[in-house]
Amino acid sequence: MIHFTLYKALEILLGEREQRRGNVRVKIIKRNKKDFLDLLLLADEQESMIDNYLERGTLFALYDAGLKSICVVTDEGNSTFEVQSLATYEQFQRQGYGKRLLNHVSVHYKGKGSAMLIGTGDVPWILSFYESCGFELSHRIENYFIEHYDRPMFEEGIQLKDKVYLKKDL
Ligand SMILES: CC(C)(COP(=O)(O)OP(=O)(O)OC[C@H]1O[C@@H](n2cnc3c(N)ncnc32)[C@H](O)[C@@H]1OP(=O)(O)O)[C@@H](O)C(=O)NCCC(=O)NCCS
Repeated sequence: MIHFTLYKALEILLGEREQRRGNVRVKIIKRNKKDFLDLLLLADEQESMIDNYLERGTLFALYDAGLKSICVVTDEGNSTFEVQSLATYEQFQRQGYGKRLLNHVSVHYKGKGSAMLIGTGDVPWILSFYESCGFELSHRIENYFIEHYDRPMFEEGIQLKDKVYLKKDL
């Protein structure tokens, strides 16, 4: 009985350690990118805006015992790449997947250009999140969300107006 309990406890402990260590993989998705629309819509609620960059962009998908996060990066010319969207399924947020995927993408593009941009709403915690990933405030396009979207966009009850760009050297 004691042996069985000890064995079970060891098994659970090892299982948890395996889970913690994880088997995180990032794949580049080349076909059927619209299969990821549920996640893409988390980052950008208007599908017509996603259509502007999805096909020309590179779609990265992070898996850890199933799909967790996605990110789309476009080549904007002049040695500049842009992260167009980054999203993690709500139930898996704040577990490090977003940061991990962004770091993966930075490493992937290192040496392939001079800068990586990210444009987002003027939301303090999102700006802090990107800064914690090594990005610095760059510039803003005033009223972008008002002029380019069919309807008002909100984040945590605040209407999005300007698009704020952050930049990281590659
Ligand atoms: C932004 C997003 C991609 C982050 O993904 P994630 O997998 O949760 O990211 P990580 O777990 O690596 O890092 C999360 C960090 O961001 C910050 N953060 C995340 N959600 C937050 C929230 N609701 N409020 C405040 N800070 C938050 C925290 O600093 C957090 O680190 P911590 O958990 O150690 O405190 C995710 O919140 C998301 O998919 N949001 C919806 C889509 C979106 O808004 N995308 C960004 C615009 S392009």
